[in-house]
Amino acid sequence: MAGKWTPESWRDKPILQVPEYPDQEDLKAVEKRLSGYPPLVFAGEARRLKKSLAEVAAGRAFLLQGGDCAESFAEFHPDNIRDFFRVILQMAVVLTFGAACPVVKVGRLAGQFAKPRSEPMEKQGDVELPSYRGDIINGIEFTEDSRVPDPNRMERAYNQAAATLNLVRAFAQGGFADLHRVHQWNMGFVSDSALGERYQDLANRLDETLAFMAACGLTSDTTPQIRETDFFTSHEALLLNYEQAMTRVDSTTGDWYDTSAHMLWCGERTRQIENAQVEFLSGIKNPIASKVGPTTEPDNLIKLIDILNPENEPGRLTLISRMGADKVLQALPPLVRRVKEEGRHVVWSCDPMHGNTVKSSTGYKTRYFDRILTEVEGFFAVHSGEGTHPGGIHLELSGKDVTECVGGAQAITEADLSDRYHTHCDPRLNAKQALELAFLIAERLKEERIGGKLNGFANGATAAAE
Ligand code: PEP
Ligand code: CO
Repeated sequence: MAGKWTPESWRDKPILQVPEYPDQEDLKAVEKRLSGYPPLVFAGEARRLKKSLAEVAAGRAFLLQGGDCAESFAEFHPDNIRDFFRVILQMAVVLTFGAACPVVKVGRLAGQFAKPRSEPMEKQGDVELPSYRGDIINGIEFTEDSRVPDPNRMERAYNQAAATLNLVRAFAQGGFADLHRVHQWNMGFVSDSALGERYQDLANRLDETLAFMAACGLTSDTTPQIRETDFFTSHEALLLNYEQAMTRVDSTTGDWYDTSAHMLWCGERTRQIENAQVEFLSGIKNPIASKVGPTTEPDNLIKLIDILNPENEPGRLTLISRMGADKVLQALPPLVRRVKEEGRHVVWSCDPMHGNTVKSSTGYKTRYFDRILTEVEGFFAVHSGEGTHPGGIHLELSGKDVTECVGGAQAITEADLSDRYHTHCDPRLNAKQALELAFLIAERLKEERIGGKLNGFANGATAAAE
């Protein structure tokens, strides 16, 4: 049996995907400084998120989680934060209406800096250098200097996360998130979209609902729920030096919380049950998650759940399925079935991004909108078949009009990718693609709610059974 958990017990475990810092003294000094800085989030907030996620696990709410693949120092700008937050709010309104239940909003933001990589080295021409691992670790520039892991980047990431969170908190509570404004943005989207007609009906019904509510006296002035919103942060707990430094005892409960974000997860490449990232996550009391890819064995999944949620606490653990559009129908059912048979309370969420990354003919890493939609549809089909709740969606998206994923109503082509390809890691949906996906999922959630039979998304994407 494992030894007693402490914030540093991960250091005795095997670990993958982390840098070797050349200057250990420098590293220790940064860790020490970080551990004295103010927490970014409070334990009470993490508990509130856990409670909301327990509602998702019980089938009474839906989780919307999204943001950058990798936040970067270069893209740190108030407009980017504002536009990201705006699209999340727009999506949440559409999904709330479709599902007729609360939507729990969680950003991949204010800490989503460290990246696992498939190759430790990157080759360009004859030159080989260590891979870029995210701005919290090293630089993206292809030079020897920039690729050396620098612990001081952790402090810069912390400062950026603090400023980002500060702005997001202001947006969430300061009037920006007012339901009427968000709805007006959505009406603008619908009238501009090539597929606007398809979304018009939902938008009109929302319009009528808001007018009805206002007539009943439920307005921004009278009802805080219309004026304000809850928003939470999350990132992959990969760089444990940073996470440990941000982990503090909560004075109210005496429990340990990682105060770098409300929710933390382990990735597909770092979810080994004997390894450091799982050890770390097992001891913090935040809501946590694990990616679940197509090679996952049901037995191993149960072992992972035993470690991450031994008390079977609803809301504690989210399983983020990321199978690939062509695998989800085969790979997901045995896992969902087994978790259900064992009576484990989890949130099942769908990441339709990471199993569908391809190289375009023009050399860009990209994702096809239709494949993303196909995986979402497959995820819903599986849960419908197993009688379980398709609890949420996990997306990589930008609030900007980037050209990183192919397709959608805007019909971005492979040739367009070079126009505005800004991501530091994986390709993100742009604001219009993300909102379009939300409308399509809302239609699906509505069908589910009304107890209708499973229909594919009407634009031709069907669950692939290849
Ligand atoms: C990610 O979410 O950016 C990621 C690397 O995903 P995964 O661990 O599922 O590959
Ligand atoms: Co990614």
